[in-house]
Amino acid sequence: MACVLVTGGAGYIGSHTCVALLAAGHEVVVVDNLCNAHGVALERVAQIAGRPIAAFYRADVRDGQALERIFSAHQIDAVVHFAALKSVAESVAQPLTYYDNNVGGTIALLQAMHAAGVRDIVFSSSATVYGEPFAVPVREDFPLAPTNPYGWSKWMMERAFSDVVAAGDDWSVIVLRYFNPVGAHPSGCIGEDPRGVPNNLMPYLSQVAVGRLPELQVFGDDYPTADGTGVRDYIHVVDLAEGHVRAVECLPRMRGLTTLNLGTGQGYSVLEMLAAFERASGREIPYRVAARRPGDIAECWADASRAAAVLGWRTRRGLADMCADAWRWQETNPDGYLS
Ligand code: NAD
Ligand code: WQD
Repeated sequence: MACVLVTGGAGYIGSHTCVALLAAGHEVVVVDNLCNAHGVALERVAQIAGRPIAAFYRADVRDGQALERIFSAHQIDAVVHFAALKSVAESVAQPLTYYDNNVGGTIALLQAMHAAGVRDIVFSSSATVYGEPFAVPVREDFPLAPTNPYGWSKWMMERAFSDVVAAGDDWSVIVLRYFNPVGAHPSGCIGEDPRGVPNNLMPYLSQVAVGRLPELQVFGDDYPTADGTGVRDYIHVVDLAEGHVRAVECLPRMRGLTTLNLGTGQGYSVLEMLAAFERASGREIPYRVAARRPGDIAECWADASRAAAVLGWRTRRGLADMCADAWRWQETNPDGYLS
């Protein structure tokens, strides 16, 4: 049993990871400033897991003093660092906000860990660091070429981790590059709750299906893919959460920096996602083909073999589960956590 500090633990992936950590018998401490989350998510985490987290701190990870208090109040063995801002479009409009929050937060966290003698951390990175991949499936040793400030903030944080590891001190860092996390916990109690109009395909589809939005715009049907629409590697958030638990459990026997793709290795097009969501929801989803979204790539899916070899982990949930679970969450909570 480990005591794990989860930054951003009230968020979408963080809340699912808290459930998975509790289910695996670990103790969980959460720090989150709730800038993109609701505190009620953590109450639901406790309901699902059948036991509460050890503590919740509403604090900003850039606040070094708050972090110091957390590290002195708990015997933290490892950190899972989710806390970040994640909107690509917003990062283009407000790059400094993104560098300050994401990079600044990570540096403050690493300083606090260093001072507290905690050296084990799992970090949320993203397939966005690859930019437009020159081939698929995407391997971890492919060149990195982000195309927006959000992606560059992930690149900078990866760079900071690798420099800190190179400087010695026996760090154990696992960088996880997620592909496209979707779905929700099968209980329907926690899920993705974007503020405003969703940017991403799956929450958009869910909100059209439930009647909150009139129709889906399919961004481009002239890509060089089988049906012309963009292809991505969608991964069920519960599989992703379980990957984090495995990573936390592997940290003590691994030193240095390990970078792993977390995806399924399988790509689906926008139209395939739409059809799967119609099947799961039993509802017709109106759509219209629109222009390509600037900055979008044609296709991207993971070579996930390294994660399988290193973590002994693989995804277990398919497209039908992703859509059924996303739909259950959306139908039960049509207005998200404020329902
Ligand atoms: P999310 O916004 O739901 O969760 C992030 C959490 O961090 C939120 O609860 C937010 O309140 C908190 N937070 C943000 N800045 C903070 C700060 N300075 N101090 C304290 N708390 C702060 O997002 P998510 O989808 O759960 O993403 C989690 C992580 O995974 C992020 O680092 C994100 O960049 C990364 N990621 C997400 C995706 C995706 O598509 N969802 C894909 C790849 C990588
Ligand atoms: C998927 C496909 C769209 C919305 C983004 C970030 C990435 C990562 C995950 C954090 C594309 C199409 C979408 C819509 C559509 N996040 N689409 N209509 O762009 O692969 O990745 O989220 O790290 O950094 O860039 O995901 O869900 O936005 O799009 O046709 O209303 O759906 O064009 O082909 P994306 P997405």
